[in-house]
Amino acid sequence: METMIKNAVAHYEQLLREQIARAENLNAAKKQKDENKTVIGLIDGDGIGPIIMAEAKKALEKLLADEIAGGTIELRVIEGLTIENRLALGQAVPDSVMAEIKKCDVLLKGPTTTPSGGKMESANVSLRRALDLYANVRPVCVPEENIDWTFFRENTEGEYTLGSRGIEIPGVLSMDFKVTTVEGTRRIARSAFEFAKKNGKTHVAIVTKSNIMKKTDGLFSAICHEVAAEYPDIQADEYYIDIMSANLVNPAIRSNFQVFVLPNLYGDIITDEAAQIQGGVGTAGSANTGTEYAMFEAIHGSAPRLIAEGLGDYANPESILTAACMLLRHIGMAEKAEKLTAAIQAARAAKPVDAAIPGNTCQAFGDEVLKQL
Ligand code: IPM
Ligand code: MG
Repeated sequence: METMIKNAVAHYEQLLREQIARAENLNAAKKQKDENKTVIGLIDGDGIGPIIMAEAKKALEKLLADEIAGGTIELRVIEGLTIENRLALGQAVPDSVMAEIKKCDVLLKGPTTTPSGGKMESANVSLRRALDLYANVRPVCVPEENIDWTFFRENTEGEYTLGSRGIEIPGVLSMDFKVTTVEGTRRIARSAFEFAKKNGKTHVAIVTKSNIMKKTDGLFSAICHEVAAEYPDIQADEYYIDIMSANLVNPAIRSNFQVFVLPNLYGDIITDEAAQIQGGVGTAGSANTGTEYAMFEAIHGSAPRLIAEGLGDYANPESILTAACMLLRHIGMAEKAEKLTAAIQAARAAKPVDAAIPGNTCQAFGDEVLKQL
């Protein structure tokens, strides 16, 4: 036991040193971008990933045909980010794949499978960290109910930073670590308040559990309030994550919320809840943005159950298509994004993906989107 404790303490010291170094170097890297060309990397992912990505690729090829022909945009397929490959190489993101990814400017990524337990880290988490994609932006809209929410989930810290590097005393206990840094919090808070300001929003909800997670969420809360003070026209209120989860399913008040800023894990959980209110996780897109790169994806996973049941062809591509809209907007093509949004809405009305209706497949939905474009 004494040896295990000593090893654990040494491990902890190592983590602490690494995290202090990370905190001091946040925002340091700067990549040179070719101003004349934007490379969009397309990553299939696992499970339903390749099925839904095929439809997104078709839509982007059509929408960006002129730019692709003119050489200002390249759609580049990145191979090899599969669970088989990752397990065989023992790397969450194989080095060769990471090198290719880093040559792109923006990415559209299908869901990747995350093995639970064990040592293999989630490919998503590795990519978010390696590309420093600190802001996970997840919009949720239900126009009939006047719901227009935008979640700013901190994307590289909290429970995720050291999620696969906890401590275990076998047969006795396990400990994981949660990390919140001043700068990491400041930049996500700033993203949320800047978004609110630019989009005429008047309210930002800061969501924590700072009554219990006193150090980490306490810091998150303090920094968010500090940033909020720079935006006197925007009202900022703090809510605990438990009551906020209840508020989102309370029709009497939920449409009052506009912008949310929250730590990583709470953001993960509550954005699935929010997506379900919008019509299901299959309908929601997600942007992971940093200063150098941006990665767009569906908010859901690779749906192994759907694949196991032989229903992969009925995976809903709306989420990844919505992510493609966000990507287009990110690279300054708002008009094309609007066009795609309208086409998705029209396809939803004409040919909704539905396993109970033969023919209403993922591919049929994608074809309908193309027709609308
Ligand atoms: C998400 C997903 C990921 C997360 C998984 C796949 C690692 O649930 O993007 O919300 O937990 O962040
Ligand atoms: Mg999630």
